[in-house]
Amino acid sequence: MDQASSIEDRFAAALSVLEKIKQEHVLTFYNTLDAASKDRLLDQIEKIDWEEVARLRETHVLKDPEMKIAENIEPAPFYPNTPTDDLKKKYAEAEKLGEKLIGDNRVAAFCVAGGQGTRLGFSGPKGMYPATPIREVSLFSCFADYIRNMQRKFKCVIPFYVMTSPLNHNETIKYFRDNNYLGLDEKNVMFFPQAMMPGMERSSGKVLMASVDSLALSPNGHGGSLKALYTSGAIHDMRERGVQHISYVQVDNPLVKLIDPLFIGLHAMDEAEMSSKMLSKRDPFEKVGNFCLADGRMSVIEYSDMPDELAVEKNDQGELKYCGGSIAIHMISVSFVEQLNKGAFRLPFHRAEKKVPYMDMESKLPVSPSEPNGVKLETFVFDALPLCDTSIVYETLREEEFAPIKNADGPGVLDSPATSKQMQSNRAGKWLKANGVEVPLDANGNVDATIEVSQLTAVCAEDLETHPLPKEVKRGAEILL
Ligand code: UD1
Repeated sequence: MDQASSIEDRFAAALSVLEKIKQEHVLTFYNTLDAASKDRLLDQIEKIDWEEVARLRETHVLKDPEMKIAENIEPAPFYPNTPTDDLKKKYAEAEKLGEKLIGDNRVAAFCVAGGQGTRLGFSGPKGMYPATPIREVSLFSCFADYIRNMQRKFKCVIPFYVMTSPLNHNETIKYFRDNNYLGLDEKNVMFFPQAMMPGMERSSGKVLMASVDSLALSPNGHGGSLKALYTSGAIHDMRERGVQHISYVQVDNPLVKLIDPLFIGLHAMDEAEMSSKMLSKRDPFEKVGNFCLADGRMSVIEYSDMPDELAVEKNDQGELKYCGGSIAIHMISVSFVEQLNKGAFRLPFHRAEKKVPYMDMESKLPVSPSEPNGVKLETFVFDALPLCDTSIVYETLREEEFAPIKNADGPGVLDSPATSKQMQSNRAGKWLKANGVEVPLDANGNVDATIEVSQLTAVCAEDLETHPLPKEVKRGAEILL
């Protein structure tokens, strides 16, 4: 809607669209609102694709869409972490190519941070969560330090793009501003919010209201990043800078190798549009997506959609046949995002029944449901993989690169701050050991000390070669490098 349109015209247009799809109840209180609230509500309404909402109400809300699994599913091929003899030369060349691309300012870092972090129970943007074992610096700080290290090493600029959501956009920007952009140059950091989707009431498919002047909105899933990168102008900015490849990471993983020369090089050398890192699944039912070729196309099948009989299947060597777990680390080519957005691409929506807080339309009082009352709809970034002509998968190691913070601490809880901190100490211990330092282990094989290596100091074991190191780490010690 044209910004210059009068508020009356905007109201009439909104009403007409909403009446057609029987969602006009969202304007029930419009006439009682002041000018600012009217504008806020209309603004939310104008940003939503109501035809899509109407379609999804029928296909995904009033019923649970049947997940169709492709007829022909095979495990996806992948580049192993340790190259076989015939791959050694390729890996060496790929690493060189990756380093050249980084040094030539062709690579950007991109973090999707629009999620709500509900499971962690942290109220601010998740990127602000104090993640490391000693200094307790934030997840965003880990990424900023990583970028600073690589910029120093390769004498280059790595612009950092952060996707937020309207729920945490201002707070995220304030955090960076208040903290001197975490040591990055302000002009190389860009924030943009993703789009939102209204929550719908599970049985009626009616859009839920959060208050008299607001819909009950939530972020539209990390798949929304592929549109938001384009509509926000981030892709345009990348083009102006000469950036060709986007290193995509989630906000929750402090161990992620945000800019990885070998992975970047393999992606570029094979001319892939979108590539992924995988790790070997801990067990058949680990809650990570599964890399598969579905009817010949690269795909990730979410753990919840993976048929049990496939999940447990073994290969001839007695290993899990579908061993490739997705840890949501990707390389995405700038031209692929452009190509998607110039065509009419649409990622499939996934349905999740959730407790959606809402306003009771009779009493106007807020309700916090104790049982799932609504349906949230999200798209997933990995659903773009089947749209690629070429997509590669590279195997990384859990202990080197995956220690996500997803759940609040608790006995036996995985992917929590405590498990992540232990894994951060473990990786630091492994790097010290590789440099000749004695490191104590406990009975479970965990490092029996708290060790933190700032990403500014090192992003791999080799970075420690020139750093002053202790001869040994004492049991229970705290070591900060
Ligand atoms: C995700 C993957 C799973 C993978 C795992 C690895 C999905 C559906 N599953 O699970 O395959 O194995 O990570 O850690 O993604 N986000 C947004 N906007 C949104 C929703 C999410 O930016 O609308 C961001 C979050 O801020 C976070 C990331 O996406 O950085 C992951 O989101 P989350 O919903 O927590 O995914 P997981 O269930 O952990």
